[in-house]
Amino acid sequence: MNKTCKANKTPLINRIDTLLAKMSLQEKIGQLGQFQSVGNQLPESFKQQLRSGHVGAVLNEVDATTINELQRIAVEETRLGIPLLIGRDVIHGFKTIFPIPLAQAATWSEKLVEQGARVSAIEAASCGVNWTFSPMIDISRDPRWGRMAESFGEDHFLTSKLGIAMIKGYQTNNLSDKTAIAACAKHFVGYGAAESGRDYNSVNICENELRNVYLEPFKAACDIEVASMMSAFNDLNGVPASGNEWLMQHLLREEWQYQGVMVSDWDSIRQLQVHGFTENDKASALAAANSCIDMEMVSTTYFDHLESLITEGHVKVEQLNKMVRHILGLKFKLGLFENPYISSETFPALINEQHREAAKECSINSCVLLQNKNNCLPLSREKLSSIAVIGPLADDGYEQLGTWIFDGEEQHSITCLQAIKSYVYDSTQVHFAKGLETSRTNNNNDFEKAISAATKSNIAVMILGEESILSGEAHCRTNLNLPGAQHELITAIKQTNTPIVLVIMAGRPLTIEPILNDVDAILYAWHPGTMGGEAITELLFGERSPAGKLPVTFPRTVGQIPIYYNQKNTGKPVSDHNFMPIDKIPVRAAQTSLGMNSAHLDCHFSPLFPFGFGLSYSVIEYKNLIVKNPILTQQDTLQVTVDIVNKGQHKVTEVAQLYVRDLHANVTRPIKELKSFKRIELPIDSTTEVTFNVSVKEFSFYNQRMQKVVEPGLFHLWVGTDSTTDLRADFSVIAN
Ligand code: GLC
Repeated sequence: MNKTCKANKTPLINRIDTLLAKMSLQEKIGQLGQFQSVGNQLPESFKQQLRSGHVGAVLNEVDATTINELQRIAVEETRLGIPLLIGRDVIHGFKTIFPIPLAQAATWSEKLVEQGARVSAIEAASCGVNWTFSPMIDISRDPRWGRMAESFGEDHFLTSKLGIAMIKGYQTNNLSDKTAIAACAKHFVGYGAAESGRDYNSVNICENELRNVYLEPFKAACDIEVASMMSAFNDLNGVPASGNEWLMQHLLREEWQYQGVMVSDWDSIRQLQVHGFTENDKASALAAANSCIDMEMVSTTYFDHLESLITEGHVKVEQLNKMVRHILGLKFKLGLFENPYISSETFPALINEQHREAAKECSINSCVLLQNKNNCLPLSREKLSSIAVIGPLADDGYEQLGTWIFDGEEQHSITCLQAIKSYVYDSTQVHFAKGLETSRTNNNNDFEKAISAATKSNIAVMILGEESILSGEAHCRTNLNLPGAQHELITAIKQTNTPIVLVIMAGRPLTIEPILNDVDAILYAWHPGTMGGEAITELLFGERSPAGKLPVTFPRTVGQIPIYYNQKNTGKPVSDHNFMPIDKIPVRAAQTSLGMNSAHLDCHFSPLFPFGFGLSYSVIEYKNLIVKNPILTQQDTLQVTVDIVNKGQHKVTEVAQLYVRDLHANVTRPIKELKSFKRIELPIDSTTEVTFNVSVKEFSFYNQRMQKVVEPGLFHLWVGTDSTTDLRADFSVIAN
């Protein structure tokens, strides 16, 4: 069974055509079905389905022996011997769990994201998985939405860069490499804009905003030939994505010429009827097939109705052939016809020291330092004689893994408590108390032990936040405060007068303004994965300086949502000069006497923490911003230099960010847009000159006529440590 064949040199198109010509109508339709794993005791009925050529793919099987048996039946007991796609959600790790994608976005590092995907692919491929349903590149501006955890955040430029990195990590530049797996850009499209941040809810985005924001990461993925995409659950402007011909045929296949596989989301074709878009399963199959949704995940509308739809002439054979070609093409590219089996020498190549190191490095760089009063951090193990470690997430190897963990195992985790105990000197007393049973516990029954631990310690390290189940698919929240009685626990510990270092594990931004004054330092660790404890400990004790930068805006209150940095100016922008807070409004104030600007009366218009924000253990200063060529044509490249000064006593990694504003255009443009970023190592007490080269084409946008253009005119440019930077220079683009 472990036969390997020499790589086939016949052109792909010829191989597809030759095989397609041999296939019956039923065998073609059989390739369109993806079925849930039936476990390692394959029922005869499923074996028969395989033998009949009625299965194109299986998902959620990770036992190598079972996968080899599935492939053996498909290859050796069917008429044409077409191997199977084996899919799995490898979202941020397989056995070695990396930080959640939102945390990985906080690294702003294409290298680290690619490396994490590479490790994930090696582990998954070693079990026989050849397809992952990742990266999720939905733009998400609403932290009520649980799936923000799986995203790269609110900005399409950053999401595009990191999505490409993840795809490269999974696919390498040779899909037939035995450690490569097919990536899947999802969820096409607009899923992150679900109304009220409620999962699966309706999405309404005008075409201009769709093209200028939500489609951008998918176009980037298409341009680097992502092997597959997944259709979203949501309806888009009234038409569900899985039956949306304009989106799937006109835009994706005709305008973008995408040739990869489009797989439906789980049961999303059958759900077209639930949406009220189709009358029954047959109509759903018709809508999806004519939208070129190539593969149906789990539901069986194609299996049940496509043959009659074709014989009745509702679906053309040419359309079916196009769908089958996409699937066969992927199977050929993966080398499955030459090597359908997993060799027992390679599987499973799972969690090892090298993989752990990669996960730890990613976690170290994903944590964001939000507050550090009086330089409370880094801690000194030399000076500490006692430390309290408090919180329901301090020693929970499962919760720190985060959402979408199918194959991760908590026994591989290093928790904060374990890592701190290992790190401090034997002479240092470590007092541990959960304080709360879980992150949702709503009573103070266990406070006493926590208070006692803090009272007898030099410092209280509190590890709080969200259990992993509170984010991810279908896990949306209307209240983003720390759940349960966690705030009360902080208040109780504050009353001991022991300084508090707060580590937050969460799958989204939380509205933590109420606790800022109760704690000295805040390190946002998201859900940091297998190696989270060691990563956090090394940051807390200054072995490394925090380098993370926020990929999403932190709101002060849920009422501000959606709030994001690249917003439009409106005709009545608010500023500190015209903002009128509610407590300053005179009684019986005349209707037009207030600020009359775009703001809420009861909340300052700024976010709690802005996009791109993140402190380090040093003081960083930007100066001498110079635009070398302030007058440019549309074919030019903007050249910018800036000096970045590390004024502190810690070596730091800084993410220098470059933002641009197009001051007037055929459609309104954001007040700032990220157009470049650079991660640089800044030695202690140093000044580093950083150069940015940005093609003027990067400033293009879709105008009212849906033409992608760069308009001549004046631009503002900023470079700085986050999106609030005011270090500005101007340039102009002139007509050619
Ligand atoms: C889901 C998710 C999708 C996932 C698929 C398979 O419901 O929306 O992201 O890849 O099912 O698990």
